[in-house]
Amino acid sequence: MNVLFIGDIVGLEGQEYVEEVLGRLSSRQKLDLIVANGENAVHGRGLNRKAAERLYDAGVEIITLGNHTFDQRELQEFIDEDARIIRPCNYPPGTPGGGFTVCKVGKKKVLVINVMGRTFLSQLDCPFRTVDAILEAHPDIKHVIVDMHAEATSEKLAMGWYLDGRVSAVLGTHTHVPTSDERVLPQGTAYITDVGMVGPRDGILGMDRDIVIGRLLSQMPARFSVAKGPRQFHAVLFELDEETGRAVNISRVPVYEP
Ligand SMILES: [Fe+2]
Ligand SMILES: [Fe+2]
Repeated sequence: MNVLFIGDIVGLEGQEYVEEVLGRLSSRQKLDLIVANGENAVHGRGLNRKAAERLYDAGVEIITLGNHTFDQRELQEFIDEDARIIRPCNYPPGTPGGGFTVCKVGKKKVLVINVMGRTFLSQLDCPFRTVDAILEAHPDIKHVIVDMHAEATSEKLAMGWYLDGRVSAVLGTHTHVPTSDERVLPQGTAYITDVGMVGPRDGILGMDRDIVIGRLLSQMPARFSVAKGPRQFHAVLFELDEETGRAVNISRVPVYEP
C-alpha cells in the first residue's frame, strides 16, 4: 500500500499547488491513499467547506488538522458530518469533530489518527494515552497512520518511539519546515519529525515575511497574510506491507516552483 502524506497546506496558494503537483505527479497512479494536513488552508488559518472540497477534488482523501482547527467558525457546522476531516484526538471530550477516522483502501481498513503535542501549544489531554485508547479500541486494524501535530522535535520523536511497532507511520506536522530524519524505526513504523508545508516558499512558514518581521521588531499586533511568489510542496511517500501494516520505506517528495 502506497501512501502520500502532504504537510500543512497554506492558503489558496497552497491549495492550488496541491492541485497542480498531484495532477502531474509521476507516481500518482501507484498511490493508494492521500492524506494531507489542512489546518492552514484558508488564509493560513483553518479549514472551510470550499477548501475541503477543493482538496478532495485534487485527490486528497483524508484531511487532518491541528492548533488552527477552529479558526474558521464554519468548520464547526460540518466537521461532525464529514468523516474525512479529523482534528487532534486529545481535545477535551465534547469538542466538535473526531480525532480519528477509518477508511478503506481496497479490502484493507486504514485508521488515521490526528493528535497534538502539548509543548508550546494548548494543554490538551495526554497525547500518548489518548492514542493508546484509540489503538486499543481498534485491535483488528493493522494499517495505522498518525499525524503528530507538535512544535517540539523531542515530543514528536517521543511519539515515534512510543508507537514504534504499534502503528504504520508517525508523521510530524505544524512547524512547516521539513526535517531530514525520515526513516523506518526498528519495529516497522515510518517516521519523520516534520513533513513541511505546501505554499509560498519565500515567506515565513508561508506567511508574508515583512509582516512577520515587522511584528517581531515592533512587538505590536499585526494581521498576518499569506505570502506571494514561488511555491513549495512538501510531502512524504511511504509503502506499507499489505498484510502486516509495517512500513517498508519512507521518502520525502519535495517539489519546488522555479
Ligand atoms: Fe500549520
Ligand atoms: Fe499548527
